[in-house]
Amino acid sequence: MNKAFLAALLFPLLFAACEAPPGEAPLAGAKMGGPFTLTSQTGAKVSDTQFAGQYRLIYFGYSYCPDVCPVDLQKLMQGLSLLEKQDAAKAKKIQPIFITVDPKRDTPEVLKQYVAAFHPRLIGLTGSEAEIAAVAKEYAIYYRKADGGSADAYLVDHARQATLFGPKGEPIALIPQEGTPQEIAAELAKWVS
Ligand code: NI
Repeated sequence: MNKAFLAALLFPLLFAACEAPPGEAPLAGAKMGGPFTLTSQTGAKVSDTQFAGQYRLIYFGYSYCPDVCPVDLQKLMQGLSLLEKQDAAKAKKIQPIFITVDPKRDTPEVLKQYVAAFHPRLIGLTGSEAEIAAVAKEYAIYYRKADGGSADAYLVDHARQATLFGPKGEPIALIPQEGTPQEIAAELAKWVS
């Protein structure tokens, strides 16, 4: 068998292997997520194990973010609220979680006010600089304090990503945070069973 023939034979097989079968989660097998213990907006220690059996919709950001985070959170939580109206049982299986990338300013008190503005079930998590750095790395979220600003007035560059994780903490799909509430509700409904 000559090499060209072999390549012609193998190419469609290799190509086919790269296409996810229909219905398979886009992030299945991705190295994202893992254990954490952080502090919630009530001051309680919260670990990933507390969400066992629940889907988790996780968004990293910071409360002082001037435009992106509040817009994304609003849309995501409107989508979740819409799903609550369409299919309450399904929506109930999803725990929305906001994790700060600015733990210095996002204390539990600050987060408490912030998350309440978006959804009654949204949990806000903060921690030490080291704890946040570790969880961001684990969840493949890039963030960095922007140049300029002062000690208490500064911006934080960060990945803009809403990720749905499954009942065992496995990554499932990115949720299009820029979509309409209808699109977000449909995307959530698609993956939650
Ligand atoms: Ni932001």
